[in-house]
Amino acid sequence: MSARHSSLITRHGVFVTGTDTGVGKTLVACALILAVAETGRRVVGMKPVAAGAQANAQGVLVNDDVVRIMAASNVAAPQTNVNPYCFAPATAPHLAARASGVEIVLEVILAAYWKLAALAEFVVVEGVGGFCVPLNAREDSADLARHLGLPVLLVVGMRLGCLNHTLLTAQAIRARGLRLAGWIANRIDPSMAVAEENVTALAERLAAPLLGEIEFTAAPDPQRIAALLDSSHLI
Ligand SMILES: Nc1ncnc2c1ncn2[C@@H]1O[C@H](COP(=O)(O)OP(=O)(O)OP(=O)(O)O)[C@@H](O)[C@H]1O
Ligand SMILES: [Mg+2]
Repeated sequence: MSARHSSLITRHGVFVTGTDTGVGKTLVACALILAVAETGRRVVGMKPVAAGAQANAQGVLVNDDVVRIMAASNVAAPQTNVNPYCFAPATAPHLAARASGVEIVLEVILAAYWKLAALAEFVVVEGVGGFCVPLNAREDSADLARHLGLPVLLVVGMRLGCLNHTLLTAQAIRARGLRLAGWIANRIDPSMAVAEENVTALAERLAAPLLGEIEFTAAPDPQRIAALLDSSHLI
C-alpha cells in the first residue's frame, strides 16, 4: 500500500465500510489494527454483525472475519463484545437475523462497543456489507455508523462499476453527517481495464484523501499491508 496523501483521524477508532461485500474490509481492518498495535497502543477490532458462520465443536457459531479480527488485535476481548451478532446464513444481515429468530438492536451493539472502548485505546469497527445495508426493519448500517460517531474509512473494491458505488457511498456518508476520513483503492480485480485511471477519477472527485493502494496478490497479508501504512494517518 502506498500513501499518496495524509489525513488525521482524530477519534479513537474508525468505522471501516466498503463499496460492497467482499471488497477487502476485513483485510484493511486487520492491517489497521496491526498498524495501530505497532505504535504501542492497545487496539481491538469489532465486527458488530456477521452473517455466514459455522458451529465449532462446542456448538458456538464462528465467523471467519471475527477470527481474523480477534487474531490481529493486541487486546483480548470477549467474543460477545467483538461480535454481538453472528448468524449462520450468509445472507443480508436483517434476513439472516430473521431466519435465526433474532432482531438486531443497535443499543446492544453500542453497549458492546463501549465495553471494547474501555479495554483499548483504539477500536477498528468493520461494517457489514456496504454502507446502507439494512440491519432491521427500520435501521441500516449507516445508522450504526452514525450512532458510533466514528470517522469512516471507505474500502473501494477496484472493479468495473466502482466509480458509481464509491460516489454514492461517499454521498451517503456525508448525508448521515459523518466524515469520510479517507479511502483505500483495493485492486481486487487484476484484469480491470484502466484501473489507475479509475483511481485518479475517484481521487479527483472524493473530498477525502487516498490513504493507500493495495495491489492484487494471491494471498494478501495484512501484516505486509500494515507495514506500508503510515500510522500517523490513523491516530
Ligand atoms: N488486494 C487483494 N488481492 C487479492 N485478494 C484480495 C485482495 N483484497 C481482498 N482479497 C480477497 O477477497 C476476499 C474478500 O476480502 P475481505 O474478506 O477482506 O472482504 P470484506 O469486504 O471484508 O468481505 P465481507 O463483506 O464478507 O465482510 C478475501 O478472500 C480476500 O483475501
Ligand atoms: Mg469482512
